[in-house]
Amino acid sequence: MALWMECTHQGCEVNAQPHYLVCPCHGSEFDANGNVVQGPAETNLKTFKVNTDYENIFIYL
Ligand code: FES
Repeated sequence: MALWMECTHQGCEVNAQPHYLVCPCHGSEFDANGNVVQGPAETNLKTFKVNTDYENIFIYL
């Protein structure tokens, strides 16, 4: 799974921490699967299906 790193609150780019993602604008936090764990965001991050072969990573947009 790939995550779109844009906060669902007002669109700031979220920052990756070792075990979660945090938005620098108003403090929303998301787990490693993009689920909201702290607001003000109310919606999970957008996700995309991912597949791989021996030399490529495919992200289904
Ligand atoms: S834009 Fe991310 S918390 Fe507001």
